[in-house]
Amino acid sequence: MKTWKNIAALGAAAALALTMSACGARNADTATSSEGATSGAMTGKVSIGIAMPQKTSQNWVEAEEIFKTSCAEASVDCQIQFANGGVAEQQNQISAMIENGVKVLVIGAIDGSQLGTQLAAAKAAGIKVIAYDRLLTNTTDLDYYIAYDNFGVGQLQGKALLDGLEAKGGNKPWNIEVFAGSPDDSNSLKFFNGAMDVLQPKVDDGTLVIKSGQSDFTQVATQGWLPKNAQDRMAALLTSTYQGDAVPAGVLSPNDTLGRAIITAIEQAGKSIPVVTGQDSEDESVTWVVQGRQYSTIFKDTRPLVKDAVSLAVALAQGNDNPKIEGATLDQTQYESKKGNPVKSFLLTPKIVTAENAADVYKNDEIRLKLVEKAQK
Ligand code: BGC
Repeated sequence: MKTWKNIAALGAAAALALTMSACGARNADTATSSEGATSGAMTGKVSIGIAMPQKTSQNWVEAEEIFKTSCAEASVDCQIQFANGGVAEQQNQISAMIENGVKVLVIGAIDGSQLGTQLAAAKAAGIKVIAYDRLLTNTTDLDYYIAYDNFGVGQLQGKALLDGLEAKGGNKPWNIEVFAGSPDDSNSLKFFNGAMDVLQPKVDDGTLVIKSGQSDFTQVATQGWLPKNAQDRMAALLTSTYQGDAVPAGVLSPNDTLGRAIITAIEQAGKSIPVVTGQDSEDESVTWVVQGRQYSTIFKDTRPLVKDAVSLAVALAQGNDNPKIEGATLDQTQYESKKGNPVKSFLLTPKIVTAENAADVYKNDEIRLKLVEKAQK
């Protein structure tokens, strides 16, 4: 089976190429769904446009396959497209979906603040819009948001970092470094704020020291979620701040791809691996967590998120103005698509994963459970 081996060590282009090839890891069918897609007008079925970002982490790769299955199960026509070329490509894809007469758009944005024109056109055409995983901003033309609780993800990461440091012992204060995701992804600040919600009090009381002094989101963000950028920054931090045998005791990483890049930079400098967090339960990181090489990851099971997004899309297409989504909490205050414009958000609950609870958390995920069992041997 292909895995996400050593993705952190690869350059950006190679990393993306490997990400794409990982499509085949869980499912033999790698055709893009837009190819040969029949439009709803031809079949009489509800037609949904699914516009996804670059495959910057394994969850997006898995989402493609699950969207295909869920759309087939719900008997709807889905046009799924990924915008590997960037924002302009995504804008064009959404415009084409509107032209094609979709009834609902499900959008995982590259930069959620840059789709205002397309969303206004969707609204004018009577199309409902759902933001998937990443919020859409700079617009009031958004009907729903569906995602895992992003602030909650960050809080779990912050808590895991503290738990890991506690378990490892060592003299306090603990030196740490913090990383955040791509600044154009609205999730990144939420993850970071959630983590700092837990970590900042410990910085304030002197338990933790961010030794480089780089603690602002703008200083610690990782453009494009690219592992190379995180790896380079970690290597630079080691040179500037951790000379000789010194090494941070812990590193806050917003996801697994970047976590493995950070670990790789530290290993390449010949230093011992600190407590490093992550997110996404990527195959490689599941193994690393169980082996103790990465301290934690987060499980945001893509299966219910996609299924719920499709159910929500179908409900909206059928004119249901008050849909209920099983397993998700409706939040009407936390997210705003524009100042003063709260968005109805269905939020699912993320789970923290460490070596101790991995088998239990993945008990209903055959592939991840197998990875855990293999790594435990
Ligand atoms: C998703 C994360 C993912 C990241 C990079 C975020 O918007 O919520 O799960 O790790 O994008 O792809």
